[in-house]
Amino acid sequence: MLSRIVRPTISTARNFSTSNQNNFKVAVCGASGGIGQPLSLLLKINPLVSELSLYDIVHTPGVAADLSHIETASKVKGFNGPDNLAEALRNADVIIIPAGVPRKPGMTRDDLFNTNAGIVRDLAKVAAEVAPKALIGIITNPVNSAVPIACEVLKKAGKLDPKRVFGISTLDIVRANTFIAEAKGLNPKDVSVPVIGGHSGVTIIPLMSRATPSVSFPQDQLKALTVRIQEAGTEVVKAKAGAGSATLSMAYAGARFANSLLRGLKGESNVIEPAYVISDVTEAKYFSTPLLLGKNGIEKNLGLGQLSEFEQGLLKAALPELKKNIQAGEEFVNKS
Ligand code: NAD
Ligand code: LMR
Repeated sequence: MLSRIVRPTISTARNFSTSNQNNFKVAVCGASGGIGQPLSLLLKINPLVSELSLYDIVHTPGVAADLSHIETASKVKGFNGPDNLAEALRNADVIIIPAGVPRKPGMTRDDLFNTNAGIVRDLAKVAAEVAPKALIGIITNPVNSAVPIACEVLKKAGKLDPKRVFGISTLDIVRANTFIAEAKGLNPKDVSVPVIGGHSGVTIIPLMSRATPSVSFPQDQLKALTVRIQEAGTEVVKAKAGAGSATLSMAYAGARFANSLLRGLKGESNVIEPAYVISDVTEAKYFSTPLLLGKNGIEKNLGLGQLSEFEQGLLKAALPELKKNIQAGEEFVNKS
């Protein structure tokens, strides 16, 4: 099914900027950060973006001034601090959230909960007021809990549309494509591996049995590749040795996902991208599966599809952790 994903073209070609499809407002919350800056750069050169709204609690005037000199048609505005948040998000078509602290070596994504839960809650509150129709993509960790937090806030405000809130798990797919291509000597651009579940450790479920092109591995290599995909974030955290987690690959993945949302909004057909959303395909209330995207966000959840016995085992291991993460997010909003 994922073979039908059309990878976005992020082109720096000057003539791309004259496209007449540059008509969406995209807001980035956390735009001055390690992910926020390169992500904003990639959005600045996306011809579907006409207005790029950069929000952070620090440094947005500088980031916005810098990006505004790039020779593409989109207008860039910087908004600094909570007093300017509503203006930043007002009537946005798409809001991408990479705001919040990243991991250091030895930490789990859940260790970020105490700091990042409140950040996501406060951003979602304002989004509910000023951009109720926006498609919201959440990068902030722990994603498994952050998405339920945003959804509970929107629900309390009477503005929740389950078709419009997404946890961005695209980096897991990008990594799976890269690692499988490496293992098989293929060009990564020709490889498409669905990854479902959530975005942390055992909740990340790569579906090698459904890779395109079809690949097979001895059981020990299959296990090793699965663990590498599940632990790839930690690989980067360790390599950065205290300087944070994945930023550049995440900016690429976030830009790819945002582009898919925009292509769906534009009315392009057959835009399929997995993301972590409100779901009834398993017993977990939120789950990532391939989604058909359209003018209202999710047009159709394409579901789990066929799983191998090995993948069924991964799903079984993921569900208790996922349910715990979801409950933590829901309780955070409903107790605060
Ligand atoms: P960073 O520290 O470099 O940047 C975070 C930015 O958020 C900073 O500019 C900071 O000022 C800003 N910020 C803090 N509080 C804010 C608030 N209330 N409103 C708006 N902005 C605020 O961190 P980073 O490396 O960019 O990572 C950001 C988040 O993304 C982390 O939680 C990280 O774990 C997560 N992440 C997720 C994935 C994924 O696959 N979903 C991948 C990589 C990182
Ligand atoms: C990743 O997968 O790279 C991110 O979730 C960041 C992290 O903490 O690993």
